[in-house]
Amino acid sequence: MADEIFVSPKKHGRIMALLSGRGSNFIKIHDAVRAGDIDAEIVLVFSNKEDAPGLRIARERGLETLFLNSKLYPDKEEYDREIIRETRRREIDLICLAGYMKVLTPSFCDAFKHRIMNIHPALLPSFPGLHVQQKAIDWGVRFSGCTVHFVAAEVDMGPIILQAAVPILRDDTEESLSARILIEEHKIYPEAVRLYFEGKIEVHGRRVFIRE
Ligand code: GRF
Repeated sequence: MADEIFVSPKKHGRIMALLSGRGSNFIKIHDAVRAGDIDAEIVLVFSNKEDAPGLRIARERGLETLFLNSKLYPDKEEYDREIIRETRRREIDLICLAGYMKVLTPSFCDAFKHRIMNIHPALLPSFPGLHVQQKAIDWGVRFSGCTVHFVAAEVDMGPIILQAAVPILRDDTEESLSARILIEEHKIYPEAVRLYFEGKIEVHGRRVFIRE
């Protein structure tokens, strides 16, 4: 069977950001929205952590925020179902994971196929998971970097949208490499979101093509 083809919608988009921490990627996306570089609005910033700095910053920026305590739900399915309800209620077009430290359930991923993006601080499919900057140093690879990808049920393995490579230097520590990778994350994540709502992202099975 031929691969299904998906083309991102050219429209004024409605975005929801999911974060668990400092939220610097969310901030860069919001900056690009405010600057008019991305034709979209951030409708909701969601967190599973009540005290996430990113949530506070979103509030200071006048955005709607929502925290749901996962301990009040019987299981992950119920928790994600509640987030899905909030998402549908607001007619969200694109969900941006920005340092969201919970793995989405497969039913969540399936419900929003090609409508969830994530940023990962390594060149996928190398180094999925956590602490990947240190793992890249330990492996002795010469380059690492970052990847914006669509989210699919298999963690960190959805179709790759954009990547940026960062050389690993002799004296690199986890902190120094993470800082240089983060600079690239802040460029390619807003760029991917911009391309999405310009209708320029074309997905053929696993492969993503950017329309000129
Ligand atoms: C980033 O390194 C991102 O690649 C990873 O989590 C971190 C989030 O950082 N998924 P921030 O909260 O966006 O500053």
